Amino acid sequence: MTSKSMIKDLEKIKNAALKAIEKVGDADALQDLRVVYLGRKGELTKLLKGLKDLDGGARQEMGQVANQVKQELEAALVARESALEKARFDAIAQEEWIDVTAPGVSQQEGSLHLVTQTINRIVDIFSTIGFSRVSAPEVDWDYYAFEALNMPKEHPARDDWETFFIDEHVSKRYGKQVLTPHTSNAQVRLLEEHDVPLKIINIARVYRRQADASHVPMFHQVEGFCVGDSITIADLKGTVEHFLYGFFGKDRKIRYRPYNFRFTEPSFEIDIDCDVCAGTGENCRVCKGGWVELAGAGLTHPHVLKAGGVDPKKYGAFAFGFGVERIAMMGGGVSIPDMRMMYQNDVRFLKQF
Ligand code: DAH
Repeated sequence: MTSKSMIKDLEKIKNAALKAIEKVGDADALQDLRVVYLGRKGELTKLLKGLKDLDGGARQEMGQVANQVKQELEAALVARESALEKARFDAIAQEEWIDVTAPGVSQQEGSLHLVTQTINRIVDIFSTIGFSRVSAPEVDWDYYAFEALNMPKEHPARDDWETFFIDEHVSKRYGKQVLTPHTSNAQVRLLEEHDVPLKIINIARVYRRQADASHVPMFHQVEGFCVGDSITIADLKGTVEHFLYGFFGKDRKIRYRPYNFRFTEPSFEIDIDCDVCAGTGENCRVCKGGWVELAGAGLTHPHVLKAGGVDPKKYGAFAFGFGVERIAMMGGGVSIPDMRMMYQNDVRFLKQF
């Protein structure tokens, strides 16, 4: 090979390479080009192998030319590489552009449901006088919901609890399962599980077949149960009033009405002046004559203590069961005219509390 034809070939390689480098569209293809032209088996290297056939002066001259070409190609590759890199970043910047000066989108903030807020306040108030919270089952046996509470099978008193019974898995000893119609199912369970004296509240969902302005089929109750060795009605009243005045404020009116529960003797119902009609009772769908029933209560019947293995000659007890939704509705300024609104999940309603 003559040096002339070699120079021609070098020119050819250089031009082809520069063209290809200019056209290449991404970093990988560029890397391939580097191998094709400058690699160990690349075009330029192949050509340079022919140098050894030239004589001294020509070889030196050709060597210089070839080196120059090599440097030119190197420079072209590096330039193209940074151009491609810049193009890539420009595309990302374009695609992911954000206006950092734009005003932020504010997050919608949720809040606890009124019933949950009410439960939290109830728990707080009772904890200040030493009541601890437990959770009795919300699906329980007939035995704990009724029988152990002095309401034997077929007793007509049971009708007041409009109960949902479950037909599956009937137990010989405990009877059918029920969706607990009241939180009083906790009483005998607690006596079985804990030593006396005790002071607890059980807050749970309860279920009854009922729905109107002051009833929903699933609601919550707070059961209070206090067992000790010299319990009187004064203890019951003191506890109930500590709670009610603590929750509603001292200026609300409460009253006790005699009642008949099979599991307390004597028994009461506890009412508060209605917040919806300000106690007037006029055209009020929620109350009866200005009063709203909040709870049943009384001194625990000896049969109940016995069912829980406690000697009624040694110990006495008082108990009460408050409706949580009623308490929430009667809170000052809440003014909810229909209990069903609490469970319709209408955000306009929920936002108010
Ligand atoms: N469990 C009753 C109800 O759901 C309320 C009640 C009355 C609870 C007397 C008690 C009680 O603990 O002693 O209406």
